[in-house]
Amino acid sequence: MSGAARGAFISFEGIDGSGKSTQARRLADHLRASGRDVVLTREPGGSPGAEDIRRLVLEGDPDRWSAETEILLFTAARRDHLEKTIRPALAAGKVVITDRFADSTRLYQGITRGDLRGVVDRLHSLMIGVEPDLTFIVDMDPAEGLRRALARRGAEERFESFGEALQVRMRDGFLALAAEFPARCVVIDGARSVETVAADIAAVAARRLA
Ligand code: ADP
Ligand code: TYD
Repeated sequence: MSGAARGAFISFEGIDGSGKSTQARRLADHLRASGRDVVLTREPGGSPGAEDIRRLVLEGDPDRWSAETEILLFTAARRDHLEKTIRPALAAGKVVITDRFADSTRLYQGITRGDLRGVVDRLHSLMIGVEPDLTFIVDMDPAEGLRRALARRGAEERFESFGEALQVRMRDGFLALAAEFPARCVVIDGARSVETVAADIAAVAARRLA
């Protein structure tokens, strides 16, 4: 088919330190080099309003917000990101690559402090209602992920300070999500060199975007 390329919506998910940001950037560079118009974005954040909410949720005391309040804040940030950044880019035929999306809320808020997955899903269908076309789940040994994440530690440490036990549950949770949504999720072994992982991801993206 000739004419403008269709837009595509790609997310990266995985535990902290698994290499999502590195690989999202690599895929964006790769697709740009092949002539695609790419918007590289992230959550929480990706629009001015959502970046303001990012500071509220990621900085400060780990007990600052309840899980329920976090669900509302992350979903509010996502709604603004969708309205201001994601939908306009897809409508213009661009590829949107986001570092985290709703799967992160399904896990971090959905299972860590009680079973709130049903609440996350209800609010998602009410306020967001879209899923990525393709989700890369970057899989990584939790201890190694935590080592990597702590090595570049900054002000955004609310979640990282929850420690390794949480990382273990998150890793299992991401693998379970991949099994729950097999049509859009692809698990990628993140414990290899940046180049090897990037080549793997580029090959999957090429097949899916074709
Ligand atoms: P995430 O976004 O999942 O938290 P990052 O992409 O920020 O992960 O990577 C976390 C740290 O690990 C960074 O310092 C990054 O340079 C490093 N890193 C990323 N991918 C690899 C890899 N394949 N091998 C070794 N180190 C990596
Ligand atoms: P991120 O900046 O991607 O951190 P990292 O690079 O360490 O993976 O995300 C920041 C934190 O926000 C991360 O610990 C996961 C958390 N988070 C949630 O708890 N819920 C969400 O819906 C999202 C998008 C992120």
